Amino acid sequence: MKTMKVNLDRMAANSYTIHIGDGIMDRMGLILARSGVAQRYVIVTDDHVDALHGGRVQAALEKADLIVDRIAVAPGEAAKDIRTVLALAEKLTGLGADRHTALVALGGGVVGDLTGFVASIYMRGIPVIQVPTTLLAQVDSSIGGKTGVDIAAGKNLLGTFHQPKGVFIDIDFLRMLPEAQLRNGLAEVIKCAVIESPELLDDIEDAAAKGGLRETAFLERVITTACRIKKELVEIDERDRGLRRILNFGHTLGHAVEAASGYALSHGESVAIGMVASAAISERMHYLPTEDRKRIESVIRAVGLPDRIPGKLAPGEIMSRLASDKKKEGETIHFILLKKLGLPFVNGGVPEGIVRETIKRLQR
Ligand SMILES: NC(=O)c1ccc[n+]([C@@H]2O[C@H](COP(=O)([O-])OP(=O)(O)OC[C@H]3O[C@@H](n4cnc5c(N)ncnc54)[C@H](O)[C@@H]3O)[C@@H](O)[C@H]2O)c1
Repeated sequence: MKTMKVNLDRMAANSYTIHIGDGIMDRMGLILARSGVAQRYVIVTDDHVDALHGGRVQAALEKADLIVDRIAVAPGEAAKDIRTVLALAEKLTGLGADRHTALVALGGGVVGDLTGFVASIYMRGIPVIQVPTTLLAQVDSSIGGKTGVDIAAGKNLLGTFHQPKGVFIDIDFLRMLPEAQLRNGLAEVIKCAVIESPELLDDIEDAAAKGGLRETAFLERVITTACRIKKELVEIDERDRGLRRILNFGHTLGHAVEAASGYALSHGESVAIGMVASAAISERMHYLPTEDRKRIESVIRAVGLPDRIPGKLAPGEIMSRLASDKKKEGETIHFILLKKLGLPFVNGGVPEGIVRETIKRLQR
């Protein structure tokens, strides 16, 4: 098992360890038992993950003499809702959970965000342990402390920063993860490679060419690298006010096409399209060499993600979604662009004409 420490601000109490390995649930039990994080634990999961892994994870914690309960919510983004928060709070009080209780978020990003949010406000804040079970959650959402639920006006509009007390990434969970979910996570891994690690890009290209995207050694390597990249950015910019924004590479246009498709495009597919668009804009503005743009498109295709905007999405609709994002940040659309592979920067001044032209070119 590998470990890496996320060192946050001045107070060691806020720092935490990310554990990465294959079949580490028993060890998680022992580590939590030794840690003194809490006197009892409540696992929060969703019905899918519960059926596959819930009993096994609870048994692993109980084997370490921990007191453990388990609650499952419905699977899917709809669970990131304030009504689920209230229902969970009521279940927690029913179980007698108090300030000496910690929550264990066992699931994908939905369970992680929801459970982190509940933990941040239940009795003014109790600890949360993140146990991510999708590749996306293992490389992205479980690290960094962002929590939240959705409201009608938009995703993640109610939320907090609540850093976990530990993150346990078990590659074993990925064995039964559907292909589409694996690709969603690979989009974020490719993002990390493009912004920070050309070597990781080589590794993904090799694995895709050999059909080895599910191999344990490959997954362990990419998860470790992606976690290192994310944790280093979180250490520098815990509250997402500066450098951490480069993690949004591909997300500006990505969010716009995701919303314009009525969420028919998955998050990973949308981010893939957004990365291709950012690379094309970077090339068009004479920052990025053509061969780097082509390489980004080719690795996205190689893992089975889309590199073109579906023809049926109206460019005007995508532009208006971008404009509504723009309102949130004043008058400029912030794109993360590239000077070369591994060298991103925040650009606030992409002319609207170039964005429109790029959207049209990517629909051909
Ligand atoms: N907090 C952050 O920093 C951050 C970052 C990125 C994304 N997010 C959030 O993450 C969410 C998306 O997360 P996601 O893509 O993991 O989706 P998800 O949590 O909905 O999981 C996807 C599906 O996979 C199933 N599943 C989970 N683990 C499984 C396993 N091991 N085997 C088989 N099936 C499994 C789930 O039941 C669900 O049906 C979004 O709500 C997004 O806003 C948060």
